[in-house]
Amino acid sequence: MRFFVLSGSHRADAQTLKVARYIESVLARELRAEAHLFSLSGNPLPLWDEASGGAPDALWDPISAQLRAADALVVATPEWSGMATPGVKNFLLNCTAAEIGHKPGLIVTVSASRGGSYPVAELRMSGTKNNRLCWIPEHVIVHHAEGNLNAPDGAPDLGKEDTLIRARLRYALKVLAEYAKALASVRASGVIDHQTFRSGM
Ligand SMILES: Cc1cc2nc3c(=O)[nH]c(=O)nc-3n(C[C@H](O)[C@H](O)[C@H](O)COP(=O)(O)O)c2cc1C
Repeated sequence: MRFFVLSGSHRADAQTLKVARYIESVLARELRAEAHLFSLSGNPLPLWDEASGGAPDALWDPISAQLRAADALVVATPEWSGMATPGVKNFLLNCTAAEIGHKPGLIVTVSASRGGSYPVAELRMSGTKNNRLCWIPEHVIVHHAEGNLNAPDGAPDLGKEDTLIRARLRYALKVLAEYAKALASVRASGVIDHQTFRSGM
């Protein structure tokens, strides 16, 4: 099984990237899965415009290939001013149904404090109408990010919150993997028709 993990912070020294790397390690170690991590640190992608899509694109084409090969996605975003990052929204705007349609997605949000709920609500409401990514019911909020997920798993003095976040992530990733198996049959069903119904309503 293959997973695409998006780290949605634009910042170079991002806590979200740390979280995404932890997710990548759990996928490899415990689910024996392949994970491709793509980071928006440094803003590698320009904002979408009319020229995006269709023509060969040296930036997007390798990402597109990884998305097409993936069975499931993890989208990790910090909460910035009560929002998902512009980079995450731009990424979802670039994604097509051919790349991620009817694949399961896990939302993971990251906050320096007790935030992180707003981008969960935002992503559940928007960003998937046309690309048909399917958010699974589980999501994970990494509170107090700077203080958690620093030590290796099994370290003796992990705090209560750190332990809980690791357990939540592990559980959500396992659930995501089951949705990945289940939704493969939807994509193979022959029912999906994005020629006639190109955009969602
Ligand atoms: C521009 C900006 C806005 C932020 N707004 C919020 C916010 O609304 N709620 C919150 O919990 N944290 C907020 N934070 C703090 C982030 O949660 C914190 O930077 C955390 O480490 C995740 O972001 P990172 O992945 O870029 O490190 C904000 C940070 C930045 C840079």
